[in-house]
Amino acid sequence: MKDLKANILKSALPNHIAIIMDGNGRWAKSKGKPRIFGHKNGVTSVKEIIEGCAEIGVNYLTLYAFSTENWNRPKLEVKTLMALLVSSLKKELKTLQENNIKLNTIGTLYNLPEKAQKELADVIEKTKNNNRLTLTLALSYGSREEIVNVIKKLSKKVVNKQLDIKEINEKIINNHLYTFSLPDVDFMIRTSGEKRISNFLLWQIAYAELYFTNTLWPDFRKENLFNAILEYQNRERRFGKTSEQIEKLNE
Ligand code: IPE
Ligand code: IPE
Ligand code: MG
Repeated sequence: MKDLKANILKSALPNHIAIIMDGNGRWAKSKGKPRIFGHKNGVTSVKEIIEGCAEIGVNYLTLYAFSTENWNRPKLEVKTLMALLVSSLKKELKTLQENNIKLNTIGTLYNLPEKAQKELADVIEKTKNNNRLTLTLALSYGSREEIVNVIKKLSKKVVNKQLDIKEINEKIINNHLYTFSLPDVDFMIRTSGEKRISNFLLWQIAYAELYFTNTLWPDFRKENLFNAILEYQNRERRFGKTSEQIEKLNE
């Protein structure tokens, strides 16, 4: 593990990592336990991955914790997930402070139970001046909903003559997304073997490197993260250019 970490090039770290934390239910099922047992164990992975990112110097980490579609799960599972969110925030505030981590959220938070909203607001306020790592939790998040919102906001500005259609460009769209304060995603990880995006950060991953692993989320720990980052560092990000052009740039 020490070697793994030592092999990571500090100069080529992904600035923004986004993770689709999937497979909690299957992990629990494989152990003959109820799905919620998987969610509870998934919290330990969350903790390790946040720590791992802070340790090596990643600046932005965004975790898909609850999608707009997840509201359609059985009521009891949704309720337990929300309770788990509240208890984890309470428990981890100290760790966030000690590690200089700032909490941020994306999604329609007003759909969450009041208790969760309050706890989130409290932790966001208390960590607002931290600057080692920005941890963004995607809660009640859906990328299409986010884009629909941007279109509504921009249309309103056009109708009110605050904005001319000619002025609409990628930067303006970026500035109206929930992620307006975050840079583009460099590296997106999905655990559990599923190879899909499930309505996560569709605009923001335009040029992200994608990484799919069969490891289920509760088994995904620091070592797995460091291995993933090592693979990221072996890829050539060309952004439409040729390999020769990129090599010249790196000379
Ligand atoms: C991810 O694990 C956690 C959430 C979506 C909240 P799942 O609960 O989706 O686990 P699987 O995919 O059923 O195994
Ligand atoms: C995606 O996982 C959402 C989160 C990880 C929060 P799901 O398990 O809900 O995704 P699908 O529906 O199987 O694609
Ligand atoms: Mg799943």
